[in-house]
Amino acid sequence: MRHLMSPLDFSVEELDQLLDLANDIEKNPAKYAHACAGKKLATLFYEPSTRTRLSHEAAMLNLGGSVLGFSSAESSSAAKGESVADTIRTVSCYADIAAMRHPKEGSTMVAAAHSSIPIINAGDGGHQHPTQTLTDLLTIRSLKGRLDHLTIGLCGDLKFGRTVHSLIQALVRYENIEFVLISPEELRLPSYIRHDVLKRNNIPYKEVVRMEEALPDLDILYMTRVQKERFFNEEDYVRMKDFYILDKAKMELANKDMLVLHPLPRVNEISVEVDDDPRAVYFKQAKYGVYVRMALILTLLNISVED
Ligand code: NCD
Repeated sequence: MRHLMSPLDFSVEELDQLLDLANDIEKNPAKYAHACAGKKLATLFYEPSTRTRLSHEAAMLNLGGSVLGFSSAESSSAAKGESVADTIRTVSCYADIAAMRHPKEGSTMVAAAHSSIPIINAGDGGHQHPTQTLTDLLTIRSLKGRLDHLTIGLCGDLKFGRTVHSLIQALVRYENIEFVLISPEELRLPSYIRHDVLKRNNIPYKEVVRMEEALPDLDILYMTRVQKERFFNEEDYVRMKDFYILDKAKMELANKDMLVLHPLPRVNEISVEVDDDPRAVYFKQAKYGVYVRMALILTLLNISVED
């Protein structure tokens, strides 16, 4: 049995196969419409979510399966003090696969250790968010045609942004990847990722504070929201929250074929006037999230669909 805790749980070859499967699902949805008939997905969300929870559910429904779950800790027995370990043992009796989001780093690994069904990490605190990374990789590969030879700007809350942490880990395995880390001093990428992932793999990167400086060099600009819920005090959040605002004027500094991605939700960091720019692909990205999660569910449940 396999879980998905980090993007490194799949080899580069396995990831390629998964993304190929997602592209085939996009082209031939009818072929997959009953692939999970009789199967159930549980979504166990101890933290707010729109895209991640609903796209997992849409994915299972598109595959002909069904869904059950809870969307806040308060509506589950966590509110009565139940442990993640006991919850997952119980859910293992009700469902065939589960996607779980929790505010505590490592909690989804605790779940996996006590589970008899595959567990998908749908975000564990400020640590990892591997299904968002699968979504990002599918978006980049589908719209740019490659995952290698890219200069990627990561902008915003690089400290708490789990989507950034997972995306970096996944991308360093491809050839000729460079990063430009754009953040205020207080929200720099954690040093364990700079040292253990970037330096250890000899990945070229630079750190800048001004977005304008980075824009002309980028193939991809990955914007992120300042992660309000991970701040220790409101004052720091208020000071940081509007540090970056991507607008039309800044988009003029960028390449004609640079893509703007954002895991969403957006707060103020991308002005709505950018939405009409053909380079803004964050809503397409949300759609790719369904195809890739369909591919993931099939892969973890070991279901193959013949032509
Ligand atoms: C992200 C998350 O939850 O980490 N959202 C998502 O899953 N699409 C990013 C965020 O909340 O800012």
